[in-house]
Formats: sequence, C-alpha cells, structure tokens
Amino acid sequence: MYLGPNLGLTILRTRHSIRQYKDEPIEEKIVRDALDCAHLAPTARNEQPWLFGVVKEKETLKKIADLADHGKFIAGAQVCFAVFGRRDAKYYLEDCSAATTQLILGLWAYGIGSCWVAGDKKEYAEDVRALLGVPEEYTLVSLVPAGYPKDLKIAEKKDLDDLVFQESYSEN
Ligand SMILES: Cc1cc2nc3c(=O)[nH]c(=O)nc-3n(C[C@H](O)[C@H](O)[C@H](O)COP(=O)(O)O)c2cc1C
Repeated sequence: MYLGPNLGLTILRTRHSIRQYKDEPIEEKIVRDALDCAHLAPTARNEQPWLFGVVKEKETLKKIADLADHGKFIAGAQVCFAVFGRRDAKYYLEDCSAATTQLILGLWAYGIGSCWVAGDKKEYAEDVRALLGVPEEYTLVSLVPAGYPKDLKIAEKKDLDDLVFQESYSEN
C-alpha cells in the first residue's frame, strides 16, 4: 500500500526536538496512536523486547526530571513516555531505538512535540526503572517527554552531500 510521498516525507522532514510544551493536555487517542506506531517498529527476529511506560502525574514527571541530567524540561511535559528494553534480547537497544523514533514521529503526525532524552548508558537509568516499578529484566532505553509545542529550536544539520558515498568510499 503506497500512499504517495508527501504526507510521510513532510512528517519526517519537519520533526524537531521540542523541549517546551503548552499547558494543554494531549488527547488519549493521540497517546494510543503514538504507542501503536512505536510497537510496530522493526525489531530483530520480531522479538519486540520493549515495554512502554506512560507517565502523566506531575509529581512523577518532576521526579524523572530531577533524575535526568539533561532532561529537566520533562517536568513541564504533558506526558513522558519511558521506553524499556528486555536486557536478554540481543538487539534490544536497536529495537527500542527504532520504537522510540516511531513514537516521536507518531506524536509529530498529530503536531505533538517531543524530545528523545537519553536513558541507555545513563547512571539514572536504574533509578527511573525503580521509580516506575519496572522489573529488573528491563532496562531504560529512552525517555520521551511530549506536549503541544511552545518553543521550537531548529538544529543545524550537516550537508547531506558530506555524509553520503556511492558504491565505495573515497576522500575526494
Ligand atoms: C540517543 C539520544 C539521546 C538524546 N538525549 C538527549 C537529552 O538527554 N537531552 C536533550 O535535551 N536532548 C537529547 N537528545 C536530542 C538531541 O539533542 C537532538 O536530537 C539533536 O540536538 C538534533 O536536534 P533535532 O532532534 O531537533 O533534529 C537525544 C537524542 C538522541 C538520539
């Protein structure tokens, strides 16, 4: 089923990390649809080793924000998703990263801004897991605070031509 390039490409090309959110709740259908997009992500051997936490309580958002060294803005989000991966799945990091991307794009398809906040490799990963009561077999891969955008900063991107090679790499 090919829907034509325009809508899909526009969603991909206009996504930016958004760290400031309006004080306006996100409809439950949007949250559900974004989670649906996340759980449809590609996953090695179709293991789907993920678990998605949805946090809306202000007090818990504040606690997560206090833990995340570069995620203080989580306190101002309407919702924060927490993507966990099953540690025993060989490709949990790749799988959960793919799911995180689809979650972010699913939200953006509705105009909901979000930002990937690191989880994997962070010292606070275990604290977030414990805070949310998630079993030890899982580990935090990412946090995704979200809300209607209040402020947008457009990050500069490298030139595509500097990043692509055809057939075989050469410095010229
Ligand atoms: C693995 C990963 C971890 C990230 N961690 C953080 C973070 O802890 N805090 C934050 O503000 N942004 C974080 N970001 C968002 C990046 O800063 C952002 O994607 C980058 O600056 C490019 O901007 P753009 O998303 O608007 O294109 C992370 C992104 C990725 C992929």
